[in-house]
Amino acid sequence: MKRLLVAFGGLVLLLIAVIWGCAEQRIVTVPAPGTISDIAITPAPGETVPAVTAPAKVKAKIAPLYEKEILPLKTEQCGQCHLYYYNTIRNEGGKHQIDCTKCHEKYHVYHPGKVKYEDIMPKCNTCHGLAHGDKLANCADCHANPHAPTVKMSGPAMDAGCSACHGKVADELKTHKSKHTDVACSDCHSVHRHIPVCADCHSPHTPTQTNAECLSCHPVHRPLVITYPLETPRDTCAACHPKALQDLQKSQTKHDQLSCARCHPKHRDIIQCEACHGQAHSPALLKGFKKCGECHNTAHAMPK
Ligand code: HEC
Ligand code: HEC
Ligand code: HEC
Ligand code: HEC
Ligand code: HEC
Ligand code: HEC
Ligand code: HEC
Ligand code: HEC
Ligand code: HEC
Ligand code: HEC
Ligand code: HEC
Ligand code: HEC
Repeated sequence: MKRLLVAFGGLVLLLIAVIWGCAEQRIVTVPAPGTISDIAITPAPGETVPAVTAPAKVKAKIAPLYEKEILPLKTEQCGQCHLYYYNTIRNEGGKHQIDCTKCHEKYHVYHPGKVKYEDIMPKCNTCHGLAHGDKLANCADCHANPHAPTVKMSGPAMDAGCSACHGKVADELKTHKSKHTDVACSDCHSVHRHIPVCADCHSPHTPTQTNAECLSCHPVHRPLVITYPLETPRDTCAACHPKALQDLQKSQTKHDQLSCARCHPKHRDIIQCEACHGQAHSPALLKGFKKCGECHNTAHAMPK
């Protein structure tokens, strides 16, 4: 009875050794049925044995399906399952068209309660550090989509950052106070790099006015610093000063052939008659008269 027990115990130990050995070495040698002697090549626990080439007849039969060496997944293979992300990067990723695994060093390990999502997701700082200094440290505020980092950048956090990178524009708006100073940058620039047209918010002075014309008079970040070309059409001015044009047209003097801007090269400026006519009359004639207008009325409505 004792002997039987010892023999059985020995068998159990042997079996444990077999399992242990397989687990340690991951040698998958499948013994032919009934050839117990083959077990002899299995190492004892803790011991390592060089891999032994089994005789051809006993070598495991590997189906062709399993013959291939397993290589890390390629980007296009990630894309087979994650088509949405693949396409996002492909269409809008810009310079982020790099291998998924350059960023996702860890993936498929998210485990609620055990492995936190934030802990496995890539961090911008790893590759970029603080790209714009420590004031703009929360990358996702502006670069909301890591797979399309410069697309559709918008939102209140963006607004706070504009002046950090476009200080000159922000200063311009502040120094030249106008109603645009109180318009949020992003009300006009709804997404980054978007340039609005004036007609989004305003009607033109005359029906035919183009956006380029608006800008030629009103630099948008200081719209009250108005400058305009000498040949600005009279209609433009007459939109707000209809009487001036009417008077000129009625008078039929040579002043009617001049553009408004010739005499008003800057808005609200009025240049003197002498600037164009020099000494028009002898001092004798002018004696006793304070203004040219006493004889010529106004420049818009001179008597013929
Ligand atoms: C430049 C780095 C970068 C690259 C390249 C990149 N990712 Fe990501 N990905 C991220 C970051 C960062 C997040 C985390 C986003 C978040 O927290 O909202 C993320 C999130 C994900 C998620 C999880 C989204 C979710 O809502 O749970 C998937 C899936 C994913 N990426 C797949 C891919 C695939 C597939 C590729 C390649 C085709 C790829 N990523 C390439 C940075 C990257
Ligand atoms: C056979 C399909 C398949 C392939 C191939 C695949 N994924 Fe996934 N992946 C999934 C599924 C399913 C989930 C879980 C559901 C989900 O979040 O969309 C997932 C989740 C993720 C997540 C978010 C959760 C986590 O645990 O990380 C990331 C990131 C991710 N995959 C990245 C990758 C990258 C990178 C590759 C290529 C190297 C890749 N996946 C290849 C199917 C796949
Ligand atoms: C694994 C490294 C890596 C990670 C992580 C990474 N990036 Fe990048 N990123 C790059 C590389 C490489 C470029 C291209 C740089 C170049 O060509 O100058 C780039 C470029 C960019 C650009 C310019 C894109 C363009 O098309 O001009 C932005 C914006 C950017 N990254 C933001 C981020 C943000 C935000 C994160 C975090 C969500 C992030 N990156 C995470 C590697 C990375
Ligand atoms: C306040 C908004 C904002 C924040 C916050 C922000 N960025 Fe940017 N970032 C931008 C804008 C806008 C651009 C220019 C995009 C363009 O050229 O269209 C940019 C460009 C970049 C670029 C490409 C150009 C360059 O300077 O190399 C990288 C890389 C980048 N950011 C990384 C980051 C990282 C990393 C963080 C976080 C540490 C971050 N950004 C935080 C708005 C922001
Ligand atoms: C991190 C720096 C950064 C931040 C923050 C940033 N920008 Fe930019 N922005 C850039 C860069 C870089 C360019 C590209 C400049 C170039 O191409 O000359 C740019 C371009 C632009 C352009 C287009 C210029 C053109 O000539 O087409 C506009 C408009 C603009 N930004 C407005 C904004 C506004 C509005 C904000 C805030 C909501 C903002 N930016 C925030 C860096 C930034
Ligand atoms: C009332 C609308 C409006 C507001 C408000 C506005 N912009 Fe602009 N911005 C424009 C228009 C229109 C242009 C194109 C100007 C041109 O083509 O001459 C422009 C051009 C730009 C440009 C590129 C040209 C340049 O001058 O450098 C930048 C950068 C810019 N804006 C940044 C800003 C920032 C930053 C703010 C807020 C501090 C802001 N803008 C507020 C309408 C606006
Ligand atoms: C997103 C809307 C928006 C856009 C785009 C816009 N503006 Fe304005 N603008 C305003 C608002 C709001 C006011 C204030 C109006 C009011 O109080 O009646 C204003 C006022 C003005 C004023 C008067 C300023 C003052 O202080 O009296 C001028 C001039 C002006 N805009 C010119 C322009 C021109 C030129 C463009 C195109 C280059 C333009 N705006 C584009 C919103 C806009
Ligand atoms: C020839 C120059 C010129 C052109 C072109 C021009 N403006 Fe003006 N605009 C002015 C002058 C001058 C004022 C009056 C400013 C003042 O009150 O001192 C003005 C005033 C404005 C005002 C203030 C509100 C108002 O109507 O009184 C807005 C808004 C405006 N312009 C928008 C535009 C838009 C939009 C365009 C293009 C469609 C445009 N302007 C084209 C010269 C011009
Ligand atoms: C959008 C309306 C508008 C347009 C367009 C406009 N102006 Fe004016 N202009 C005004 C306003 C408002 C005043 C101030 C009137 C006041 O103070 O009584 C003014 C004042 C003037 C003055 C000074 C008047 C004085 O009594 O001192 C002159 C000169 C003038 N404009 C010429 C022009 C010329 C030339 C143009 C075309 C290039 C023009 N304006 C276009 C609105 C406009
Ligand atoms: C921007 C220049 C300019 C200014 C300022 C100017 N003029 Fe003239 N004026 C002219 C030109 C040009 C003519 C046509 C001369 C010619 O054809 O020989 C003219 C013609 C005249 C004529 C003759 C009219 C005719 O139809 O034959 C009179 C009178 C005159 N100007 C008076 C004045 C008076 C008075 C003022 C001041 C209130 C004035 N001008 C301001 C440029 C100007
Ligand atoms: C006492 C009245 C009087 C005053 C003051 C006066 N003018 Fe005259 N001006 C005339 C008369 C009358 C004519 C027409 C003479 C002619 O047709 O030979 C004239 C003609 C002109 C002409 C047209 C000359 C030509 O060759 O066609 C100009 C230009 C002119 N005046 C400018 C001025 C200017 C500038 C002032 C102010 C410095 C001024 N005048 C003040 C009475 C005056
Ligand atoms: C030959 C020069 C000349 C031309 C051309 C001219 N102006 Fe004038 N304008 C003046 C002078 C000079 C005054 C000052 C009043 C005076 O002494 O006649 C004036 C005054 C004004 C005033 C303020 C007084 C008033 O009458 O409301 C406005 C507004 C004005 N001009 C607008 C215009 C417009 C708009 C045009 C074009 C349609 C125009 N001007 C063409 C010389 C000119």
